[in-house]
Amino acid sequence: MRVVWRPFIFSRRLLKVENCNATVSELLIPLAWITVTQKLRKVPDIFFWGQRKRFSTMPEIEANKRDSELFSPPSDVRGMMKLDRTAFKKTVTIPVLKVRKEIVSRVMRSLKRVALQRPGIKRVIEDPEDEENRLIMLDPYKMFTCDSFEKAELSTLKQLNVSPQISKYSLELTYDNFKSEEILRAVLPKGQDVISGFSRVGHIAHLNLRDHQLPFRHLIGQVMIDKNPGITSAVNKINNIDNTYRNFQMEVLSGEENMLTKVRENNYTYEFDFSKVYWNPRLSTEHSRITELLKPGDVLFDVFAGVGPFAVPAAKKNCTVFANDLNPESHKWLLHNCKLNKVDKKVKVFNLDGKDFLQGPVREELMQQLALPKERKHSVHIVMNLPAKAIEFLCAFKSLLDGQPCSSDLLPIVHCYSFSKDVNPAKDVQQQAGAVLGISLEACSSVHLVRNVAPNKEMLCITFQIPASILYKNQTINLEYGEDPPLKRQKTDNVFSEGNTQIASNT
Ligand SMILES: C[S@@+](CC[C@H](N)C(=O)[O-])C[C@H]1O[C@@H](n2cnc3c(N)ncnc32)[C@H](O)[C@@H]1O
Repeated sequence: MRVVWRPFIFSRRLLKVENCNATVSELLIPLAWITVTQKLRKVPDIFFWGQRKRFSTMPEIEANKRDSELFSPPSDVRGMMKLDRTAFKKTVTIPVLKVRKEIVSRVMRSLKRVALQRPGIKRVIEDPEDEENRLIMLDPYKMFTCDSFEKAELSTLKQLNVSPQISKYSLELTYDNFKSEEILRAVLPKGQDVISGFSRVGHIAHLNLRDHQLPFRHLIGQVMIDKNPGITSAVNKINNIDNTYRNFQMEVLSGEENMLTKVRENNYTYEFDFSKVYWNPRLSTEHSRITELLKPGDVLFDVFAGVGPFAVPAAKKNCTVFANDLNPESHKWLLHNCKLNKVDKKVKVFNLDGKDFLQGPVREELMQQLALPKERKHSVHIVMNLPAKAIEFLCAFKSLLDGQPCSSDLLPIVHCYSFSKDVNPAKDVQQQAGAVLGISLEACSSVHLVRNVAPNKEMLCITFQIPASILYKNQTINLEYGEDPPLKRQKTDNVFSEGNTQIASNT
C-alpha cells in the first residue's frame, strides 16, 4: 500500500491516465503488406527485398501507406447484428523466413521480437516447397525488409547459416484469429467506442454497455464468450445499483442463463447467485487491505457483509466474526461460504437491518468484550461497506453503550465506506461522517481511496476510533477530540493519521 499526503489531485490524474485505452490504430504500427481478400493460395511466393527496389510497385511504397487494416476483419462485417463467424475469412500476406527444420527452435529464440503473434496462428509452418525446411511467420508490422532485422538478429542468422531473405506467404485468417476488440471494432459503427473489457464473475462476463452498443449486444456477448476461455455467459447491467440489496437487474446477452457461480478471491472461494446478491471483483484489493489490518484474536463486526468477502478471510485469520446482511439471499450465501471455507464455527451470521445489528448483537458483544480484563482484550473493528448509505448508520453508535468507558486505545475502530463527487473527496467524507456524529473527524481519521467509480466519483473508506464521548451514554462530547484523539496514539501500518488527514491509496 502506498501512503501519500494530500495526493488526491495527483491520484485522480493517475486514475485518468490508467483509464485511458489506446485505440487499435494507436497500438498497432501500420505496415507494408498488401491485404488480399481472394481465395487462399498457401504457396510462398519468394522474392528478394534487395531486388524489389528496382520495381515501381514496391511494397516499400505500400509500407509508407502504413496499412493499419491488415489484421482487421473484412469490411463487409460492419453493422452485423447476428454473429456470422464465416464472414470473417480474409487472406493476408505475411513475411516469412525459410530455415532448415533442425535449427528452427534456435532461430525462434533469437527472433522473438519479430515473430508473428496472432491468436490461433502457428508461428512455424511446413514449407510446401521443401519438406526439409520450415517457414517462420514474421510480424508484418515489424518486418518491412531484411533491413528490419536488428544487428544481433542478423548476426545469429549468420552464425546459423540462415539467409535473411524474406519470402511472402498468403495466410488465411478466420474468426478464430481475430481478437475480440478487432472483431467489435469492425462490426460496430465506425469511430465509436468498442467495449474494452468486462468484470469477470466466475463463468459470467458482466458488461456495462453504452447506448450505441445496445443494438449489437447479443453479438458482443457471444464474442466475449468465444474469446474468453471459461466464460459461458455474458450479461449486461440494465439498471444502476440503487436498490437496497445492491444487486442489479441484468439481461443475459448470450450463453447460459444460469447465474449460480463460483469465484476465487484472495485464495478463498465464494459461491452465490449473481443475479440476487452484490459481488464486485474490483473490491478484492480492499477486502485484503482490511483483512491485513486484523490480528488473530481481533473481533470483526461486518455490518453489510454481502456473501462474505471480509468475513471469511477475517475468520481464517482467527478473528471472531459477526457478519450481517439484510438481503436474505446474501445471508443464505454468507452461511454457505462460511461452511465452504470451513470457518462456520468462527462466524456468527445475522439477517438484520444494519441499525438493528449495531444496536442488538454488536452492542451486546461490545459490552462483553470491553468489560474483559485488559490483557484479554483485542482490537475491535467494524466494517461498514454500503458506500451509498453507510455514513447514515454511524448515528447508531451514539450512546450505544452504558457504564464506564474502556481505555481509549481499545475503542472500536470503524471502517466506513462512502462515495464522494467533491473536489476534495477525503475532506468531504470526513465532514459527512463528522456531521452525523456531531464531532470533527478531520484530525483523527484516515481516508483511503478505494477506487474511482465513475468520472469524478470516488469510493473512499474513512477509518477512525469511535470516541468514548459518542459511544458511551452520559459522556461529555469533546467536539475537537482536544488533547486525546484516540487515533493519534494508535498508529497502525501507516493507516492512521498523526494530526492531519492522511490518505492511503490503492492506485
Ligand atoms: C456494497 S454491498 C457490500 C457487500 C460486501 N461487504 C462486499 O464488500 O462485497 C452492501 C451490502 O449491504 C447489504 N445491505 C443493504 N442495505 C442494508 C441494510 N439496511 N442493512 C444491512 N445490510 C444491508 C446489501 O444486501 C449488500 O449485500
